[in-house]
Amino acid sequence: MTHDEPAPGEATTERVQGIFSTIADRYDSFNMLASLGIDRLWRRELVRACALRPEDRVLDLCAGTGDVALAIARQAAPAAVVVTDFTPEMLDVAREKIARYEGSTQLTVELADAQDLPFGDEEFDVVTVAFGVRNLPDRAANFAEVRRVLRPGGRYVVLEFSHPPFAPWRGLYHVYLRHAVPAIGGLLTGQRDGFVYLNDSIRRFPDQAELAAELRAAGFSVISWRDLTGGIVALHTALR
Ligand SMILES: C[S@@+](CC[C@H](N)C(=O)[O-])C[C@H]1O[C@@H](n2cnc3c(N)ncnc32)[C@H](O)[C@@H]1O
Repeated sequence: MTHDEPAPGEATTERVQGIFSTIADRYDSFNMLASLGIDRLWRRELVRACALRPEDRVLDLCAGTGDVALAIARQAAPAAVVVTDFTPEMLDVAREKIARYEGSTQLTVELADAQDLPFGDEEFDVVTVAFGVRNLPDRAANFAEVRRVLRPGGRYVVLEFSHPPFAPWRGLYHVYLRHAVPAIGGLLTGQRDGFVYLNDSIRRFPDQAELAAELRAAGFSVISWRDLTGGIVALHTALR
């Protein structure tokens, strides 16, 4: 490894954009296969945790191909969801799916870096992010930006891979991550390296309590989390 190469699992803008721009058209198939369809249940729980009202405006960060925004619209029908990501190829897929949505929620798609948001102060009631914060080189910048664009009392809902507390389950999960995930991802997309990054980035990401502490340090309050699928994924909520 040269001096300038990022460490295994380290998120850099070039690495993350490179991966997602290349796999955008296979991303949904990979998700469904690798999670055995459980990703839908995780997103459903995320929508519940948002506790949305009909008049709410939601900002979805690192929105990728738009599944969180569509789940929010179909399940909770708030007034609006702004769908953002910094990889144009992922948003192209999101736009195609959103064009087929026929419900009442206004869905708009916008290119945005989650660490430097192009929105005014206190514009949103709820901000969501699924499988995104792990890919940010500067989480503190993201937390500060989310606090800025949320109204007082607004809610940040974070769905992310985490660390199963029960050691045998964690061991099995790590074997799956290390071997099955790069194999499935490599077969589907021809980009095995991107899925080795996924494994490494999950392993180096803070655990549930550490992420809660980071949110608290950023100024959020009433922070809580729930483990899903035995802690493979954690759902944090925090109030502005
Ligand atoms: C694993 S995908 C998650 C997509 C979607 N939220 C989901 O649940 O399927 C991560 C997404 O985060 C986006 N992303 C990573 N870093 C970002 C940043 N700094 N700003 C905006 N989007 C970012 C990537 O482009 C990618 O689409």
